[in-house]
Amino acid sequence: MAVTILAIESSCDDTSVAVLRGATVLSNITASQAIHSQYGGVVPEVASRAHEINIVPTVQAALHKAGIEKTDIEAVAFTRGPGLMGSLLVGVSFAKSLALALGVPLLAVNHMQAHVLAHFIDEPIPPFPFLCLTVSGGHTQIVLVRSPLDMEVLGETIDDAAGEAFDKIGKILGLPYPAGPHVDKLAALGNPVFKFPEPRIPELNFSFSGLKTSVMYFLRDQTKENPEFISTHLNDICASVQDRIVSILLNKLKMAAKIHHIHHIAIAGGVSANRGLRKALEETGKKQKWTTYIPQFQYCTDNAAMIGTAARFLYEAGIFADQSAAPLARWHI
Ligand code: KG4
Ligand code: ZN
Repeated sequence: MAVTILAIESSCDDTSVAVLRGATVLSNITASQAIHSQYGGVVPEVASRAHEINIVPTVQAALHKAGIEKTDIEAVAFTRGPGLMGSLLVGVSFAKSLALALGVPLLAVNHMQAHVLAHFIDEPIPPFPFLCLTVSGGHTQIVLVRSPLDMEVLGETIDDAAGEAFDKIGKILGLPYPAGPHVDKLAALGNPVFKFPEPRIPELNFSFSGLKTSVMYFLRDQTKENPEFISTHLNDICASVQDRIVSILLNKLKMAAKIHHIHHIAIAGGVSANRGLRKALEETGKKQKWTTYIPQFQYCTDNAAMIGTAARFLYEAGIFADQSAAPLARWHI
């Protein structure tokens, strides 16, 4: 009989709870925290307080949607890290109390590993080994995935993450937080007519802070001549920024595929919701003869279904946590 796992994700600003029976997602409920948009970024202390308010109703909603009772839960999974300490603490503490009360085991999940394992929620499931470009608000990594629990980071950002680049540049353009989805929408209405430089970073690592600076200087110069420059060229600026972020990501992915002779290529994390990236991956995939894997939109950004999926592999491997488990702000996969 397939195991029933309740999974909790609280690493950043989304409280998400899922119920899985075996590989099947019975429910996946997310309470997002709109409160941060007024500050232009996630305020950690505000986030942890909002998690405290949201966690009980989100767990109840997930149980209700799944059509199960608390007593049907056979294991409780939680995001142990990486993430914001205060936010993680809420999920970790809640998971530990629930597991203790129900007398069921605990499963401690690595958030970045879970983003990759979002590919195991639905068909098509990539065969091993495959490469996964994990692009989120806090991370940008190319991961060599040998098995569900055996992953190696081949390269990562040395400064800002790709999502952070979208958010910071979007902020300069006056877009609300998180700016990534707004840049995506506006980019679809414009053309990449402005050419921002591509950084020369060795090997499979990335850098995005230079792009942010060059956009800033470009806008400063343009608005000196035309104070309306941003508002009259917003779509083209967004298309140009997105085009460069996507080309930086895909060029490194091409390099990784070539070095490691792997042609099963996946993307994951919040930025994998970006339509420009999804389209470019498909086009590059055709040219390079890759088989590409793109998660459903709902499993790109933070969600507990991916935490439950990672937890299922831990459960099958017999890797359990105990009541001494503490959150980890940093945790390499
Ligand atoms: O994976 P995620 O939900 O949370 C983290 O673990 O960080 O990723 C959030 C990031 C944010 O930076 C957000 O702006 C970006 O993903 N994002 C997007 C899009 N949707 C979310 N960036 C570009 N285009 C999108 N459509
Ligand atoms: Zn994430």
